[in-house]
Amino acid sequence: MASDLLQQLRLNGPVPRHVAVIMDGNGRWARERGRPREFGHRAGMRAVREAVEAAGDAGVEVLTLFAFSQENWHRPQGEVAALMTLLELYVRKERRELKEKGVEVHAVGQLHLLGPRTRAAIQSIVEHTRGGTKLKLNLAISYGSRAEIVHAARRLAERVREGTLMPGEIDEELFAEHLYTPGDPDPDLLIRTSGEMRISNFMLWQLAYTELHVSPVLWPDFTREHFFAALLEYQQRERRFGRVLAT
Ligand code: IPE
Ligand code: IPE
Ligand code: MG
Repeated sequence: MASDLLQQLRLNGPVPRHVAVIMDGNGRWARERGRPREFGHRAGMRAVREAVEAAGDAGVEVLTLFAFSQENWHRPQGEVAALMTLLELYVRKERRELKEKGVEVHAVGQLHLLGPRTRAAIQSIVEHTRGGTKLKLNLAISYGSRAEIVHAARRLAERVREGTLMPGEIDEELFAEHLYTPGDPDPDLLIRTSGEMRISNFMLWQLAYTELHVSPVLWPDFTREHFFAALLEYQQRERRFGRVLAT
């Protein structure tokens, strides 16, 4: 089934270069089973693994996964702690395989807000996988897009104050280089699971012309097939970028 979809994707032509995912619905998945929210987060790890594999197999260049938002810090302390422990577990379990598969991991977000153990785990996976050329995996952790944009503005302002940059030299390209994702193409496709129709402070700048795919499936149930199906649907879209296409 998945291999049929993959073959179809290849026949259709180009796949998105950059796919971003808002991995949502772990809590509801657990609630449906009468279990604590942490149980859903744990189940969501399998889906992360499948999505990373599927992206690599499909030939996607960059996969950005929204793992923990700046706003998620306001969840109950026990849930935050469980999420941090899971992140550390993910690093321990997947580090070697990601390296073998040529996945280069990057972390984007306000990492200084993380505890020392989580920060060290993230640093270790980033260093261990450096140089991977098959897929770039951005993990958005403690990430908020408005904070990212403010951070970029501040860095540019600093350069103006130092006298190394003129305000008139600030254009869209330079601004984008000061975000957390310099060098990455903008996402071509955004997938959000669990049916929520919102962006939740994710990549506000980068998503300007991204195609949106909202899946009703809760994140722990999101499989390789679902991922490929989203890419297939993307391939049917007509991207116009505000223009009129020649007929
Ligand atoms: C997504 O699942 C994981 C994180 C936000 C960390 P949720 O925990 O938001 O699950 P729901 O939306 O409550 O079902
Ligand atoms: C967005 O999901 C953040 C992540 C998936 C990490 P949320 O569940 O936190 O977003 P809202 O609260 O539904 O907007
Ligand atoms: Mg949610």
